[in-house]
Amino acid sequence: MGTGLTRNLRLGSGLVLFTFVCMHFINHALGNISLQAMEAGREVFTAIWRNWPATILLYGAMLLHILTALLAIWRRRTLRMSRSEAVQIVLALCIPFLLSVHILATRGLHELFGINDSYLYEIISIWVFEPLYGWTTAAAVLIVWGHGCLGMHHWLRLKPWYDRARVWLFVSALLLPALALSGYAGVGKQIALLARDQAWMNAAIASFKFSVPIAELKGFAFGTADYVQIGVAVVLALLLLGRWLRHLLARRGARITIAYPDGQEVAVEPGLSVLDASRLAGIAHASVCGGRGRCSTCRVRIADGLSALPGAGDDERKVLARVGAPDSVRLACQLRPVADVAVVPLLPPNVAVQSGAPRPNYLQGSEREIAVLFADLRSFTQFSESKLPYDVVFALNQYFRGMGQAVEAAGGHLDKFIGDGVMALFGVQSDLETGCRQALAAAAGMAQALEHLNHQLRHDLEQPLRMGIGIHAGPAIVGEMGYGAATTVTAIGDTVNTASRLETMTKEFAVQAVISDFVAARAGADLSAFEVREVTVRGRAEAMAVHLIADARDLPQTEAGAAKPRRRGGRVRVKAPRAHSKKMRSDS
Ligand code: FES
Repeated sequence: MGTGLTRNLRLGSGLVLFTFVCMHFINHALGNISLQAMEAGREVFTAIWRNWPATILLYGAMLLHILTALLAIWRRRTLRMSRSEAVQIVLALCIPFLLSVHILATRGLHELFGINDSYLYEIISIWVFEPLYGWTTAAAVLIVWGHGCLGMHHWLRLKPWYDRARVWLFVSALLLPALALSGYAGVGKQIALLARDQAWMNAAIASFKFSVPIAELKGFAFGTADYVQIGVAVVLALLLLGRWLRHLLARRGARITIAYPDGQEVAVEPGLSVLDASRLAGIAHASVCGGRGRCSTCRVRIADGLSALPGAGDDERKVLARVGAPDSVRLACQLRPVADVAVVPLLPPNVAVQSGAPRPNYLQGSEREIAVLFADLRSFTQFSESKLPYDVVFALNQYFRGMGQAVEAAGGHLDKFIGDGVMALFGVQSDLETGCRQALAAAAGMAQALEHLNHQLRHDLEQPLRMGIGIHAGPAIVGEMGYGAATTVTAIGDTVNTASRLETMTKEFAVQAVISDFVAARAGADLSAFEVREVTVRGRAEAMAVHLIADARDLPQTEAGAAKPRRRGGRVRVKAPRAHSKKMRSDS
């Protein structure tokens, strides 16, 4: 059976069991109202779960859950795992020992001896006849619930909405067993008092419809539970023994080497997963889903030995496609090399769950045609020299906010602030034409934002702040670059350098923006109203045509702004230049 199928069967059977337990607890919680409410709830509960299809579903799910869990333990090559996984497994192992008596004494006796296993029967059995057993049942409630909640957490934590719902789910996870136990205990106390009345007790016992002596029923329930528990213990012992023998045999067989970037090499048997190899060697390796092939956080780049690797299965391929991984990247938990291989884990061991979320392909690094905008603030040094640091920081933050909002409003990606400069990318997730239109819209928005800032600071400024903007477009390497918290989506390459140099040229030409003709052409924007120059940019062999824009607010914008759908060829309609622009141009 494939690991994917095993996982799905375990998950599906777990969900059936979790649903059953939730409904059972809700039924217990009705005890906070009264015994009558509990019994009425039980009528509904048994109507749902005590019929043949539901019985097959429930006990089939129980059997399947146990078998697939044992299979998963067998398949694991190492028992090193995260704390929450270990807790989940330990809780699971306790369940048969704590719950077997409960199941046999209720449903078992009902089916085999026709006992009326009402709440009254259950509570009298526990509170009056077997108080010690009451504590094990309470422990079973908490253990079953803890195991189920951890399973749900491991399953749901990769869902995008989980973080938002987490608090409510956590509160529900605390509330439900608390209400169930308090309901049970509340009714239990009442019945313990009533049980002192022998006449009441006789009537209650008569309602249980015992067909054989109580001692015999008890012997059956506890005796059978003993067999079940011994059977479970034997299976677990055999499983561990089998694992140990397999380990001994594997140590004698052929070995392959898995090499890690820091020079560490781990010799393991062929067919062991790379994640297991990391765990065996004590190498910290991200694995948010615990090796279930769902989160992608264990992904590694194959530095050497790619051609000798077994191909990725459907499930692995789907997860890798979700994060836009290239062919050289594999999931360490699914990759089972049969020859020497060198791997580079791509995420830090303490990676966040979100790293497994679907990510656009470009984040891995790719060459894309984009528009790049650089902007730089002029004359800010004089301002900062004459002001208190607080004023400088305040003014700069106003400036950054205005620039950032202009870029975002145009649909661009704010790459970074460099000193008092700005770098922004456009068309990263769309296309070059859209990117160029967005960049022109952003330049106009930034100029407008600066005008607004100058107005706000008019009493503090000796002269208005000025800025230079350079825009160019073309191929660039785009991807997530950096380290830790300083990782951002950015771009590198000749296009970026050229845009930066065009921004520098704004000083030389005493204009607000220098925009390459390539950008204007790809945006379909008519910049014929602005002066054109042939310039030579350092690092480029050929001269290029640029447009000199005295006031970027005069830049033509598409009718629907930057969000206008792609248009190939032709020109886009432009707004008429504003009345003040001529004056400003002549001023400059
Ligand atoms: S550990 Fe989650 S996919 Fe490998």
